[in-house]
Amino acid sequence: MAINDLTKFVKQFSELLAVKPSFSAALAEGQKMLSELTANPDWFQPTLAQLILSEAFLQSQFLPIDPNDIQLYHSPDKTFSVRAFIWEPNVCYPIHDHGAWGMIGSLLNQIKETKYQLTADREELTFAELLKTREAVLSPGQTSYVPPLEEGIHQMQCVNKDISVTVHVYGPRVRKGYIQVYNTANKTIQRIYRPALTKKVLAIRTLGSIPETWAKDILHDVLNKNEPDYIKKECQLALKSK
Ligand SMILES: [Fe+2]
Repeated sequence: MAINDLTKFVKQFSELLAVKPSFSAALAEGQKMLSELTANPDWFQPTLAQLILSEAFLQSQFLPIDPNDIQLYHSPDKTFSVRAFIWEPNVCYPIHDHGAWGMIGSLLNQIKETKYQLTADREELTFAELLKTREAVLSPGQTSYVPPLEEGIHQMQCVNKDISVTVHVYGPRVRKGYIQVYNTANKTIQRIYRPALTKKVLAIRTLGSIPETWAKDILHDVLNKNEPDYIKKECQLALKSK
C-alpha cells in the first residue's frame, strides 16, 4: 500500500521499528517510506489549513528551536518524531547540527542541502574549519540523512524563488536541550535553545560577564540544583569566563 499520508507513514514506520531492524536497514526502509510520503503534498493540506484556521491546533504546537518547525507527530515511546519545515526564499538559514539522527524528504518544490564536516577537533566555542562535503538539490520525493551531533552538520536553502517544505523524521535525542550553529565568518559555535529556555540561558551567560561575587554565587547555586546537564554546562562555561 503506497504511503500517501502521515497516518500510513507513522503506522508503517512504527511497525518497521517494532521488529528492531539494524540501524542501516531501518534507515534504508525508512527513507523509502519517507520518499513515498513526500512524493505528493496533498496530505499536507489539512495541516496548512489548521495552522491558519484552528487556534487550538496552533496552540498545540510547542515553541521549537526553529520557528519554521511544524510538529506533525511524536511517537508515544519517543523513538521518533515527524516534523515539517517551511523554508522561505531569500532567508539565509544557519549551518547547524542536531541532537538526533534525521531523515529529510523534500515535499514541496526543491531544497538545497549542503553538508559539512569539521576539519579538526573543535574547542567548546570555536572551530578551525568547516569543509563542504556535499551539495545536493532535493526534489519532492527525494530524501537525505543526517547523523546526530558534529557528524551531521548541514544547511538548508531554498532554490530559486519558491517556498519549500520538507518533512523530517528525527530519532531519539542523544544530546538534549540545544542545537549548535556554526558561524563560518568568525569560526564560532553557538548553542541555540528553544524559546522557553533562551532567557534562562541568557541570564546565566550574563552572570558570567559580571565580576561581582553575587554573580558567581548564583551560578554555584544553580550548579547545586537539580537542573539538566546542559544548564549546568552553561553555568560552568559562565564561571570559566570570569
Ligand atoms: Fe537540520
